Amino acid sequence: MRVGRTALRGAPKMIAALGLGLVLTLTACGANSSGGSSGGTAPSAAPSSGGVKVGVILPETDSSARWEGFDKPMLDKAMRAAGLDPDIQNAQGDEQKFSTLADGMISSGVKVLVIASISSDGGSAVAAKAKAQGIPVIDYDRLNLGGTSDYYVSFDNEKVGALQGQGLAQALQGKQGAQVIQIEGAPTDNNATLFYNGQQTVLKPMYDSGQLKLVANQAIDKWDNQVGGTTFEQLLTGNGGQVDGVVAANDGLAGAVVTVLTKYGLNGKVAVTGQDATADGLQAILRGDQYMTVFKPIQEEADATAKLAAALAKGDTATTDRTATQTVDDPKGNREVKSVLLTPQLITKDNVKTVVDAGYINASEICVQATQAACDAAGIK
Ligand code: BGC
Repeated sequence: MRVGRTALRGAPKMIAALGLGLVLTLTACGANSSGGSSGGTAPSAAPSSGGVKVGVILPETDSSARWEGFDKPMLDKAMRAAGLDPDIQNAQGDEQKFSTLADGMISSGVKVLVIASISSDGGSAVAAKAKAQGIPVIDYDRLNLGGTSDYYVSFDNEKVGALQGQGLAQALQGKQGAQVIQIEGAPTDNNATLFYNGQQTVLKPMYDSGQLKLVANQAIDKWDNQVGGTTFEQLLTGNGGQVDGVVAANDGLAGAVVTVLTKYGLNGKVAVTGQDATADGLQAILRGDQYMTVFKPIQEEADATAKLAAALAKGDTATTDRTATQTVDDPKGNREVKSVLLTPQLITKDNVKTVVDAGYINASEICVQATQAACDAAGIK
């Protein structure tokens, strides 16, 4: 399935270097094969609520459990509650499909388009087409650099990265010269850059002082979890099997890293970061294989998006301006984008319960045989 892996094999020896600029040139053909509707005309799956039509395009399924597991149902519910009739599709990591889905939604008469794009370029192209038809666009979770979207709804993504850096620093406290490998997100996703920047605010001074030692830093095209695992394994073996901490940019990549660590008998001995508070990530934390994750209450993101979309559909700028009171800088488009930026939270074994108490995940999804004792100790039920 993953054609790109062969291409990867020859590459990584020279990646013991810094900077997100080092990018794997992979063509993940396999990612494109799944998913139902290929767009075209009016791709409408769920029954119409008779409300105002809104199109939503999500980027991938495989990069994180969040998109289909959280964003899709939460957006659907929030939008219906706001009197909208949402058509929510997933581009499955395929730029062509992303564009075709958008064309279908535009011609079906959506009043607002909400996009979480695969890349800034793909997202910006779609936003321009929608704009030409007078359809307002909300960038959802991922900002399209150089784009024209009217609003942006996300979390404070530099803060997400800072929490990851903070978690790693906390886990490696007192381990002078601890060796760190960084496995980062897709270079086409502006969020991956923001996560990296946030991490570096904490980690760079520690590398500079010699408290921590950076072994390698590698971005993973399309956040492909499988590629993340093989890349990490090559970096680990290239470093003689030595590693003390791993920055994994989300829980999916962390899971792939933990699989490799387990193969070498290192799981539980190496601090691994994550993000998204997925069931797998939280289980790994309870087992002691992952140190932390970042909880981003997606319901808040979905609610803010639904509120903005409903107001935009009515041309109610008083409400949109009252809702999107923050701004983010788009350095490529040289503009400030009106935004809603929500607050992420650091989760370790000590406060996994918070995520359950917030109603984000059920105890039954994370308390399984391997974690039951930890759940009991933490009072998670
Ligand atoms: C999102 C993360 C997600 C990643 C991979 C990022 O843009 O903010 O929550 O884990 O994409 O899908």
